[in-house]
Amino acid sequence: MHQKFKTGVAVFLVSAALVACGKSGSEENGDSELFLPPAGFVADAAKGRQLFDKFCSRCHGAGAMGTDQGPPLVHIIYEPNHHGDMAFYMAARKGVRHHHWNFGDMPPVPGVTASEVGHIIAYVRRQQRRAGIGAP
Ligand code: HEC
Repeated sequence: MHQKFKTGVAVFLVSAALVACGKSGSEENGDSELFLPPAGFVADAAKGRQLFDKFCSRCHGAGAMGTDQGPPLVHIIYEPNHHGDMAFYMAARKGVRHHHWNFGDMPPVPGVTASEVGHIIAYVRRQQRRAGIGAP
């Protein structure tokens, strides 16, 4: 049992994201500080688009439609109820062990900040909505 009740909700979300992705929910002590934008952060999909092109499109493709290096994020398996926003923060920070596809592992993305990932999420969710994926 951990005692971080102040951050209990966030810890729950991290655990949920990890469980949703079939990884163990064990805490990595020593590097468990939360990688999230500051309070009051307002996500901007237009900024997210530029940041996505800089950090993510090499593998996830223009418009998040996928390449031969990585999967489309505009895909039903990445809709918000299956891969919540925490899955994106975790992916950027820690990388992803391959489990849904055969592209190999996603390495951590060096240099991207939590706020930048927040903008990227807004952009990817917009792309998903335009494709009819996720909440209206
Ligand atoms: C070097 C290639 C590469 C880059 C760069 C990359 N990804 Fe990935 N990403 C992958 C691959 C490959 C997977 C699929 C892993 C699998 O098989 O499930 C993936 C999976 C993901 C997932 C799913 C995570 C999960 O829990 O299943 C998210 C979210 C994601 N990437 C977001 C991003 C974001 C945001 C960026 C940019 C900040 C980014 N990726 C940059 C290769 C990449």
